[in-house]
Amino acid sequence: MITEDLNLFLANLNVFYRKLQNYHWNIKGEDFFNVHLKLEELYDDINEQIDEVAEHILIIDGQPLGTMNGYLEITQIKEAQDEKIFSREIFEAILKDYCILIENATKVKEDADNDKKYAISALMDEYLLDYGKKTWMIRQYLMK
Ligand SMILES: [Fe+2]
Repeated sequence: MITEDLNLFLANLNVFYRKLQNYHWNIKGEDFFNVHLKLEELYDDINEQIDEVAEHILIIDGQPLGTMNGYLEITQIKEAQDEKIFSREIFEAILKDYCILIENATKVKEDADNDKKYAISALMDEYLLDYGKKTWMIRQYLMK
């Protein structure tokens, strides 16, 4: 069901937003300044996607989940801890999270195409391009 898959995606995006901002607050180490800023850029992008996904659920007459309880019940992304953390550990964690978002967006695109909901399909293309570029960059960062 496309609405259920969109709501799962929405739940993951919301938990991911909170996680990225938690890391933005708790980053420690010598690359603090760069990574602190980069994380803000990443969660700003996710915040836009949260609104777009919720509104697209409404456009197709679905009901978007809007509570933290609702998100936490179904999220596939694990929350961060409230503790200081080095950037390598952050990027290792968020690389996995972006892979989950890629799976979500791919599934939604498949549903949307089957249902001839091409606007949603096109939106997922945009996200897949975005996540693809970000995961490539994170992999480069993690290279030793
Ligand atoms: Fe900040």
